[in-house]
Amino acid sequence: MASGPSEQDIRAVGSALARGFPSGRAHPLKALDDKAMDLASQDEQLKAALFRFVDVVPACRSLDDLARHLSGFLTEVDEPPPPLEVAIRMSSTRAGRTALGAAAARGVRHMAHRFIVGESPQAALGVLESLWKRGVATSMDLLGEATVTTAEADRYAVRCSEALETVARAARAWPPRDLLERDAQGPLPRANLSVKVSALTPLLRPDAPERGQRDALPRLRELLRRAKALGAHLHIDMESFDSREAITDLVLALLREDEFRDGPSTGVVLQAYLRDSPELLDRILDSIRATPRATPLVVRLVKGAYWDHEVVDARQHGWEPPVFEVKKDSDRNFETLTRRLLEARPDVRVAIASHNLRSVAHAVAANRALGGSDADLELQVLRGLGDPLQDALAAGGLRVRTYCPVGDLVSGMAYLVRRLLENTSNDSFLADQAKGVALDELLAAP
Ligand code: 2OP
Repeated sequence: MASGPSEQDIRAVGSALARGFPSGRAHPLKALDDKAMDLASQDEQLKAALFRFVDVVPACRSLDDLARHLSGFLTEVDEPPPPLEVAIRMSSTRAGRTALGAAAARGVRHMAHRFIVGESPQAALGVLESLWKRGVATSMDLLGEATVTTAEADRYAVRCSEALETVARAARAWPPRDLLERDAQGPLPRANLSVKVSALTPLLRPDAPERGQRDALPRLRELLRRAKALGAHLHIDMESFDSREAITDLVLALLREDEFRDGPSTGVVLQAYLRDSPELLDRILDSIRATPRATPLVVRLVKGAYWDHEVVDARQHGWEPPVFEVKKDSDRNFETLTRRLLEARPDVRVAIASHNLRSVAHAVAANRALGGSDADLELQVLRGLGDPLQDALAAGGLRVRTYCPVGDLVSGMAYLVRRLLENTSNDSFLADQAKGVALDELLAAP
């Protein structure tokens, strides 16, 4: 493998991007509205209480109910900070509980609106179109995962199919944006949907992976057919480690089927926080090289969103966690995998998904060092977290795609909790950036 770009080049790209961050706009973490985020970052116990609260919000039937849960969780915190003592006192009367419940519900809804672009695909079209016009591509994600019944899985599949149709039809009227719809390997679909296999089957369980695969297969195959007919892109998300093998095998097997050799454009995810991600990349590359496709597979490289889950789950079983426990190890692996992916072109298309300015600057510099054109690399961010980076990338003439969740608060709660966990983690890049850590330090090699 070629050696990486020089530190000097990475810093130059990173500094240029940082200059493109919109000024005067609050940092996403700071802007996350409430004191709760700040407080939660400082106090583990309080953080746990708030997460448990956020988790029960959808099940609450009334404001009174909400407030009871909130105060119940908060009284478990040994030394509640003063604003929370007020909240707990308020909850001792019915009127107080109603007021507190209303405030809490507003807070959670407000927070959710930063991450969720609309309640339905139709309602999200305005945001997708305005992003496109500003030079930002999107991937729509229908919130929902871990279905428990066949009826639910069927419903999710139908909703995905309808979403593909809705976005593909609307996107035909969008104005041309060369950078977003073509690279050296050919056209890139305007309509792009991300799906989670755990929403396409209730049977995805580590102890019997074949059952889940068999059950998800017809639904996923139908979605690939829909995407192909509509000229849309279908991206299969990765989830927790215990479903990783089942999902990877299922997708690679489907892509080897004759009817999908010439489309649709499809993608998978590689999670760099997994210690064995280099071996998984070998497997993906072997598989697609054995069955060449008309449109190269997109590999979206991420750090991974289930870190807390993986660590807790492994500890409960007495296993070694499958994830790197030191963040810098993930960051270093991310850079190595970035370079391997860039070198694996044209067999793959590369999408680097990160809010970490260092990781992104490294990818851009590594691509250039390999003689690649900026148009042959895609950067991806999450709606509500990566907005300033998104704007800086678009302004810098780079292709950026924003992951746009769609749905209601109930189906979005697991997604929301993952975002909160990532962003109150003390060693997250965004937390460092929000704390005002100097650019030089932010761009230092991991
Ligand atoms: C998640 O759902 C973005 O797919 C990632 O957390």
